[in-house]
This record gives sequence, structure tokens and C-alpha cells, in this order.
Amino acid sequence: MTPPRSPTKVAGVDPEASPELTRRASEPAMRTPILGEREASEPPAAGQAAGLQVRLEGLRAFYGSSEELKGIDLEFHANEVTAIIGPSGCGKSTMIRCINRMHEEIPGARAEGRVLLDELDVYDPSVDVVAVRRAIGMVFQKPNPFPTMTIFDNVAAGLRLTSRRRGDLHAKVEAALRSAGLWDEVADRLEEPGAGLSGGQQQRLCIARSLAVDPEVILMDEPCSALDPIATLKIEELIAELKRRVTIVIVTHNMQQAARVADRTAFMLDGALVEVGPTREIFTKPGDPRTEEYVTGKFG
Ligand SMILES: Nc1ncnc2c1ncn2[C@@H]1O[C@H](COP(=O)(O)OP(=O)(O)O)[C@@H](O)[C@H]1O
Ligand SMILES: [Mg+2]
Repeated sequence: MTPPRSPTKVAGVDPEASPELTRRASEPAMRTPILGEREASEPPAAGQAAGLQVRLEGLRAFYGSSEELKGIDLEFHANEVTAIIGPSGCGKSTMIRCINRMHEEIPGARAEGRVLLDELDVYDPSVDVVAVRRAIGMVFQKPNPFPTMTIFDNVAAGLRLTSRRRGDLHAKVEAALRSAGLWDEVADRLEEPGAGLSGGQQQRLCIARSLAVDPEVILMDEPCSALDPIATLKIEELIAELKRRVTIVIVTHNMQQAARVADRTAFMLDGALVEVGPTREIFTKPGDPRTEEYVTGKFG
């Protein structure tokens, strides 16, 4: 085991000294110490890595007795975009749901192995699962704003759960909407329902919602597959911006999208990782013939 590095924000946290880490999900949430106190509105200093590395070690996932992830070792580099590709049913969504511990919310589902956020195993029994999901945000295929909430409240929702300070709520909401490239389109309609926005705007609203709580990592599960080409392009531009402050993992069926946005690409088959490498390499000279067959459209 690697000894905890200091002064990293998530490693080496003594649960005795930090009772919030062991707080139950049902208790009132305060600012969780899994992360530091960086403000959402505060861009990282030039050259400073703000996202964290994620490392999967022997990750296995089960639905009942059916094993659908069969021991995955994979590293997502900090402040890079990693695309996950592979045919339907190969385990892409399962894998990313394991990263922020959403997999275990499915009845009968469980995971084994380790998911290290920097040096912290998010499956360690002392870790607060709510803090994990704040540190590792998720954006889904179908934009899922809270339908009855206003645009403002959609973004503020997570902040109200985790922030001690309420005074700067408006500033934080504005900063998150700006970071999501949505502010100019919604500044004069913050009190309207989020459900009234277009699909692409709703997806950016969901991105703003996850950015508002200042995550280290954002997982995106086919975030553009319900969007038109223009809205897709906007999300792709946004991803290129966001990787300066978060680590991004994006599942995509669109090879061109992977080629456009991803620094590295991982190819999965039947619950296993076939290979991972720089995107250009995976698309032009992959190491495994199955990768080549998939990226050239011979199956999938
Ligand atoms: N909620 C679930 N219950 C049981 N099996 C599931 C569930 N979700 C996914 N699976 C199974 O796990 C495997 C991987 O699915 P998934 O992770 O959704 O693949 P992908 O995202 O690559 O299409 C598939 O065989 C699928 O049928
Ligand atoms: Mg999927």
C-alpha cells in the first residue's frame, strides 16, 4: 500500500480528527473534508492541477451473482479527458457508476476491488459516500434537471446540501453557470423552471449543478447522445475547458467524439479492459486486433 501523501486534500485524513468523513448519508451535510476548500468560482492557478487522478485496481462488479466487470485495472490521469468506448452491454456504464459508488444503489448490486481518488480508496469503510459523490460528479445521457425546480435552484441544490455558508450562494450559482457556458443564456430567467430549457441547455445545467459543488472528477455517460450536433459541439467545447479544473471520464458511442475530446481512450469488451492509450494511438495503431475491428466499425 502506498503511504498517504501529505498535504494532499483527500489522503491521510484521520477519521478521529474528521468526524464528517464517517458521517452517515442521512445526517445533515456540512462541507465535507474529503476535499479542500477551493471555491468553485476560483480558477486554479496557471499550470496547477486541480482534478485528481483516479485509479481502478481489480475492479469487479456484480448484479446478483452475475459478474459484469471482471477485474479492471485502469488509471484516469488528472486533468485529462479519458473516453470509454466499447459495444453496448460491455460494462461502460457499470464501470463509471462504480467510480462514484452509484452502482451499489442498485438492489443486489455490489463491487469489489479498489477505486483510488488520488490516494483515497472511495470504498474504504470510513469514507462518506455523500462526499465521494460530491467529489466525483456525474452527468447522464438524458439531461435530468430537477423538473419542478427553477434554474437557480437546480444549480444551488447541491450547494445547499454541502455548504456551511449561504451568503455567497448567488455568486457560486453564477460562477457554476458561467463555467458551464450557460450564464448568458439564462441570466435573466433564473427563476424559470429548468425543464423549460432546450436539451443542450438542460445538459449544461446538469453540468453546472455538478460543478457548483466543486468536484475533482466528472463522469459523463454518453452526455451528447440525446443532443443535436450544435448542442453536442457546445458540450465538447465545454469539456475541453473543464479539464483544466477537473478530471473527465466520458463514455461515448461516437468515435469522432472520442477523437475530438479525449486525451486517452480505453476500449472495453465483455466486462474487461482490452487496452488504453493515447487516443490517436487507439484509433490509428491499436495494440489489439479487437480494438481495430471495433474502431473501424467491424462490430459493435
Ligand atoms: N440494473 C442492472 N441489473 C442487472 N444487470 C444489469 C443492470 N445494468 C446493467 N446490467 C448488465 O450489465 C452488463 C453491462 O451493462 P452496462 O454497464 O449498462 O453496459 P454499457 O454501458 O457498456 O452498455 C450488461 O450485461 C447488462 O445487461
Ligand atoms: Mg451504458
